[in-house]
Amino acid sequence: MKISFAASASPKSGAIVVGVEEGCKLTLAAQEIDKQSGGTLSRAMKASRFNGKKGQSLQVSAPNGVQADRVILVGLGKGLDEQGFQALGGGLVPALNGAGDKDVAVFVDGGADDLPAAAANLAAGMQLRSYRFDKYRTQETADQKPSLRKATVVVDNAAAARRAFKPLAAVVDGVTLTRDLVSEPPNVLYPESFAAEAAKLSELGVKVEILNEKKMQKLGMGALLGVGQGSTRESQLVVMQWNGARANAQPIAFVGKGVTFDTGGISLKPGPGMEEMKWDMGGAGVVTGLMKALAARKAKANVIGVIGLVENMPDGGAQRPGDIVTSMSGQTIEIHNTDAEGRLVLADALWYTQEKYKPRFMVDLATLTGAMIIALGNEYAGFFSNDDTLSDNLSAAGEATGEKVWRMPLADAYDKLLKTDGADMKNIGGRGAGSITAAQFLQRFVNKVPWAHLDIAGVTWSGKDSAITPKGATAFGVRLLDRLVADNYERS
Ligand code: BES
Ligand code: MN
Ligand code: ZN
Repeated sequence: MKISFAASASPKSGAIVVGVEEGCKLTLAAQEIDKQSGGTLSRAMKASRFNGKKGQSLQVSAPNGVQADRVILVGLGKGLDEQGFQALGGGLVPALNGAGDKDVAVFVDGGADDLPAAAANLAAGMQLRSYRFDKYRTQETADQKPSLRKATVVVDNAAAARRAFKPLAAVVDGVTLTRDLVSEPPNVLYPESFAAEAAKLSELGVKVEILNEKKMQKLGMGALLGVGQGSTRESQLVVMQWNGARANAQPIAFVGKGVTFDTGGISLKPGPGMEEMKWDMGGAGVVTGLMKALAARKAKANVIGVIGLVENMPDGGAQRPGDIVTSMSGQTIEIHNTDAEGRLVLADALWYTQEKYKPRFMVDLATLTGAMIIALGNEYAGFFSNDDTLSDNLSAAGEATGEKVWRMPLADAYDKLLKTDGADMKNIGGRGAGSITAAQFLQRFVNKVPWAHLDIAGVTWSGKDSAITPKGATAFGVRLLDRLVADNYERS
């Protein structure tokens, strides 16, 4: 779908969308169409429950005196915020496609003080909801595909809206990349092919470095390499660097778990639902999409993105429960369950990141534990942190974007559950507190650098459509962390 901004429009076909504030208060554009149609809109409102409340909409097809095919009234309530306009835009997409509209003109002339910003958010919401991963559907007929081709957002100061839209479009591009990566099947997206996709960010000025198994061996990354050793695919560690601030400004770092498929290894997972483990690279997908967003909008920050890419397979060469591996930090780990592999990958990725880049902080993202889904379901992501400022900034970014996060505890008593006789630690805790013991494990590899760990197991994939996110890969984390950077770390 193509989006443009215009100061006026008089569509001869397709749909027109106009706003109504709570209490049936038509905006100017709506009043104009009501007049043209001899009061049809007013009548339609009277004949229905629609009165302009937030979230409501009312379709009026083929009104007399109006050239467009359809007029859609949308509720602006008592005014909408940024997320409200994004949701409004997103909600239009299935309505328009459902009716078969090819074009739409959306009039933004009420519901906010800053109308250009509102228009930009509405446009971003439309694009986010229009995402579709359909490259492998070869038998879909034309009427099963979305009809919408072109959206014109009509707003007085179209130039200002275009300006406001630019950084949002960059973030939408990042979200799209993440959703694509997460949606790809694991026979197509494996460590090397994922690394090749990340390498394409160099087109945007991102410096990309790929470490192969030989290089990782030299660095002593026994924890990460152990996970990949049962796979015929080579493990990879990819470092992406965006330098948008002055050269000597301390970087910030994002680290992602990129298990391109998690069978559980020798501690094999049950068969039903195992196909879902193609999205066990969700953390790495978010880091890659985030780097794209930051580079595309030329963020004024120095940012490192590190992704650990491995495939966790059972095989004659696979890691066994009982194996002891030595991580890059020098700490030894006794493997008690080969399905607790994400923390092993992150252990070396985090250690490498803090040692090599000395970041101001590190945030890691991982589909790390099923226990996180038990605790928080599919709404909030859980996070753990050793730093209150970083935590507060994350929570604020969550509120601002609607990608909500909930802080969970870290404590010595949980850390003790990782004790084992054979090595410095084992890779699982006890039966309880599975997400917390996983976080405690990671904390042993952050070397006291300010750090937050986001367990995105419950929010990386969605079984249902929501306003700006069609079901499937959500890219949860890209908008959140883009906002974290924009609001806190770009003042040069
Ligand atoms: N990738 C899984 C976690 C996961 C499960 C994410 C379901 C999304 C949906 C992770 O590698 C894993 O297998 N974790 C184990 C840890 C356990 C062995 C301590 C788990 O959560 O069961
Ligand atoms: Mn696992
Ligand atoms: Zn996993």
